Amino acid sequence: MSFLIRGLGSYSPEKNITNDDFTKIMETSDEWITSRTGIKVRQYASGTPTWKMAVRAAHEAIEAAKIDVSEIGLIVTSTITADFFTPSVSCLVAGELGLFCPAFDIGAACSGFVFALDTAERYLRTDDGIKYALVISSEMLSRYTDFEDRSSAIIFGDGAGAVILQNASQGVYGSYLGTDGTGGKHLFGKLPFPKYPFYDYEITDMEDYPGKENVIVQNGKEVYKFAVKAMPAAIEKALEKAGITPEQVDFFVPHQANIRIIETAAKAMNIPLEKFIINIASHANTSSASIPLALYDALKEGKVKRGDILCLCGFGAGLTYGAIVFEY
Ligand code: UT7
Repeated sequence: MSFLIRGLGSYSPEKNITNDDFTKIMETSDEWITSRTGIKVRQYASGTPTWKMAVRAAHEAIEAAKIDVSEIGLIVTSTITADFFTPSVSCLVAGELGLFCPAFDIGAACSGFVFALDTAERYLRTDDGIKYALVISSEMLSRYTDFEDRSSAIIFGDGAGAVILQNASQGVYGSYLGTDGTGGKHLFGKLPFPKYPFYDYEITDMEDYPGKENVIVQNGKEVYKFAVKAMPAAIEKALEKAGITPEQVDFFVPHQANIRIIETAAKAMNIPLEKFIINIASHANTSSASIPLALYDALKEGKVKRGDILCLCGFGAGLTYGAIVFEY
């Protein structure tokens, strides 16, 4: 079993924040950011909430798929930056689209798009009448960026991507998901905890960062070390499940966190860098939205075509990682 991407959509906010903009608020330089990360510019949502970015990307995906919106039988959104802790982004999207199908969010951070695709594929595979699934990743990381931490602030951006999936009874397919919860302390965002009676709270290692609530806290070096191992591991396992070799993959679409991570992982796997879709320079790290945004740009450029075998790979907070292989 597999799935087919019927349509793809994206939403990238209009407000561009350049590396030079950062030099106005912190001790940094375009040279440092470019050479250490590959990022030149990122977009900030500025007034468009996460769920509305999701709706915009969804509308474009539906239009591209040439389906009637009423044919969608499932909505799964990956996000770590929802506007409300309830209702979910997916429920808000369902309301906007006039749908009453199952709609829920998943939280797997930067691996979220891969986790969401894997989840939707399992629904589509079952025979319960779901014709199309809408899978979205929508993230507003600017909302949780710690502008006092120059090593993490410069890497994040906002955006959304969406796909319409259809069940495909044949075709190349393999998926592998993994988690290393012991590394959760290396990349996290702690919600503010109100003090109230009868509660004695303790959140172990993450207490090492007093005052760091409502912002992303990252130990960049540890996450980097994890990422360069997790990417090849996930890709290898997904390809093994699909029964194909790296040579048979036309394009790898990795999470856009740092160009050096992609280069190092490509080298470790002995895969030419030209096979990796990279758009980090123009969007930065948009967490789970980065993979669909990269795929979207590659399609617009005419790089990825129907019939290509793609391998999407994510890694991030959790720590989570995963890869999924399919025919576009
Ligand atoms: O999507 C979620 C997954 N996240 C990731 O994959 C992130 C993985 N990690 C990384 O991409 C990198 O670790 C970062 C880009 C976040 C940081 O790069 P780094 O090469 O690990 O830098 P560092 O934090 O170790 O800092 C090296 C030096 C330090 O100076 P000293 O102590 O050597 O004098 C920092 O103070 O660079 C300095 N530095 C900066 N200098 C100018 C850190 N950030 C900046 C900055 N501008 N923005």
